[in-house]
Amino acid sequence: MEGAVPGRQPNSSSTPSRGGLGPRGKGLFGRLFEGMRSAPTSKQEATTIAIASGKGGTGKSFLATSLAVLLHRSQRRTVLVDCDFGLACDHLLLGVRPTLTLQQLLAHQATLDQVLVTSPCGPRLLPGASGVRRMATPTDKELLAFAQELATLAAREEVLLLDLGAGIAPATVLTMLAADWIVLVTQPEIAALVDAYAIVKCTAQLNEHAKFLVVVNRVGTPGRGELAFQRLTEVARAHVGVQLHYLGEIPDDDAVMQQRLGQLPLVATDPAAPTSRALLALVERMQQLCGGLRQREVAGDLGISARFRQHRLFL
Ligand SMILES: Nc1ncnc2c1ncn2[C@@H]1O[C@H](COP(=O)(O)OP(=O)(O)OP(=O)(O)O)[C@@H](O)[C@H]1O
Ligand SMILES: [Mg+2]
Repeated sequence: MEGAVPGRQPNSSSTPSRGGLGPRGKGLFGRLFEGMRSAPTSKQEATTIAIASGKGGTGKSFLATSLAVLLHRSQRRTVLVDCDFGLACDHLLLGVRPTLTLQQLLAHQATLDQVLVTSPCGPRLLPGASGVRRMATPTDKELLAFAQELATLAAREEVLLLDLGAGIAPATVLTMLAADWIVLVTQPEIAALVDAYAIVKCTAQLNEHAKFLVVVNRVGTPGRGELAFQRLTEVARAHVGVQLHYLGEIPDDDAVMQQRLGQLPLVATDPAAPTSRALLALVERMQQLCGGLRQREVAGDLGISARFRQHRLFL
């Protein structure tokens, strides 16, 4: 399994000591080292998926909220985290009006369970702050608190969806680097593809192991998505040596637009619509590519919080 590290066999307590310690010393040191040896070397964590784009408005939040609904319906314990620091909107798309957000959580004014909300379609949301300029550039302390909260969530959920803001703001890049997978949402036109390539280049320079899945949204003619992907993947392979994976295309569809407050996502209101079916196919492919979208085993020092801290040093 991805990132799995076989646990070390704890040493037997009957291992003879070679030290020259007396019986009391042996007992004390034995217990100390015993504790260290039997400390867990691996743990179960949710699969974390960052939804990113270069250009703004490509459909990240639409995709992230739709995926959250579909994963919830396929019995995956899923939490959507609105990481569009300062300009969050997933709560509107999921039909909830939270009073507490990431802002209070990171300021230690509320607990994780107080901030989490269950949306009418089922998936839970960790809402972001909207229109709070200070939150657009979280401090180092806030980022560390954020990493800690993500780790707490990852320990109990199966999938964490991280809906990012567009572009390459430091907090956005950091969240992308810490995720297991990056779903890059683009559109078929050249400006969006160029910006998507910029994200691949910038991320791959910082983390050569970054794994990208590409979604082409707002496709007018069936098949245009795959053509756009081929252009993108050829450039990425030739210039930065990165292999991208194609997740699928989503049609340009007026029905996607949520026109009034409280309106629920299309996948919930009309699951049989062609766009909803395209989203379902996308989730199925994601499950195949991302190891079933379940908890997976990670070495103790390779969890989401550790990855966050590690990448933070290079930004
Ligand atoms: N497949 C689609 N067909 C038609 N409209 C769409 C489609 N996908 C998204 N949209 C519309 O495009 C707009 C932008 O979508 P969304 O907010 O999801 O983008 P975003 O990438 O999250 O934007 P931002 O970069 O600002 O966070 C919304 O009005 C949404 O309804
Ligand atoms: Mg968005």
